[in-house]
Amino acid sequence: MTKTIGIVAIKGGVGKTTISSSLASDLVNHYGKKVLLVDANYSAPNVGLHMDIVTPVKTIHDVLSGKARLLSAIHTRYGVDVVPGSYLFSKSIQPLKLKDRIDSIKKNYDFIVIDSSPALNDETLSAMLASDHLFVVTTPDYPTLSCSLRAARLASQRGKSIDGIIINKIRNPDYEITINEIEDVLELPVVARIPDDPSVLKALFMRMPASIYNKKSTFGKEINKLSAALTNSEEPRSWWRQLFSGMNREEVNRQVLKQGFYRSVFSS
Ligand SMILES: Nc1ncnc2c1ncn2[C@@H]1O[C@H](COP(=O)(O)OP(=O)(O)OP(=O)(O)O)[C@@H](O)[C@H]1O
Ligand SMILES: [Mg+2]
Repeated sequence: MTKTIGIVAIKGGVGKTTISSSLASDLVNHYGKKVLLVDANYSAPNVGLHMDIVTPVKTIHDVLSGKARLLSAIHTRYGVDVVPGSYLFSKSIQPLKLKDRIDSIKKNYDFIVIDSSPALNDETLSAMLASDHLFVVTTPDYPTLSCSLRAARLASQRGKSIDGIIINKIRNPDYEITINEIEDVLELPVVARIPDDPSVLKALFMRMPASIYNKKSTFGKEINKLSAALTNSEEPRSWWRQLFSGMNREEVNRQVLKQGFYRSVFSS
């Protein structure tokens, strides 16, 4: 029943690691799930910096170079089992072994969250191939949207479908691409809209997942809505929203995601 979720984007700095670490932490701390978080950004790993693992003992690099078993590279932080990367690894690794290594311990978890590289090469591919569900992170600007299109194409060339788009770092909608435009171009549903939130910067400074640092921040709340969909839980809605407003687009998309996810949980 384990679900492996890849957070991907062929673009650096859009928020993949921030979202992966917060989503993993929220699934554990809000929904009581058993979660493994894996750093698959082998060239520039930084999950450890979001999860307070500064000097990892064994890493994903040791695992993918055949020097360690995945179990021995697990560091537990904030309730999440984390396999960090090595900041200074010089030997060659085999990224495409990731799926095989993860499959060997998959049954121990409810969710496995894979943070990925921005590079259009075997690094991103290893995360895509190891994942059952993929989410593409984009920011609402044209250069990033074109990269998101490439990510969607790469996934489909490899027979992988993308479950949804996460729009991150929304700053000023007057000067940003709309949700409609993003959905039209990518032909994929937007399942989360996350604002640019100063608490994310503070969380990183404290080496804490942003969803733990301040779960009531706008960032924390949006992550929580996504984890609600992934765990088949009721999405938190404020009383005034329940009374006065209908569902917005991404909320509807999350309901659809939830149904698809729930169905696949029982068919796998
Ligand atoms: N919603 C947000 N609000 C404010 N800052 C954010 C938000 N999301 C991410 N950031 C910041 O943006 C920067 C890049 O984020 P992150 O490292 O998660 O991106 P990435 O896609 O993983 O990058 P890379 O491809 O280089 O690994 C970080 O400084 C992070 O704190
Ligand atoms: Mg990253």
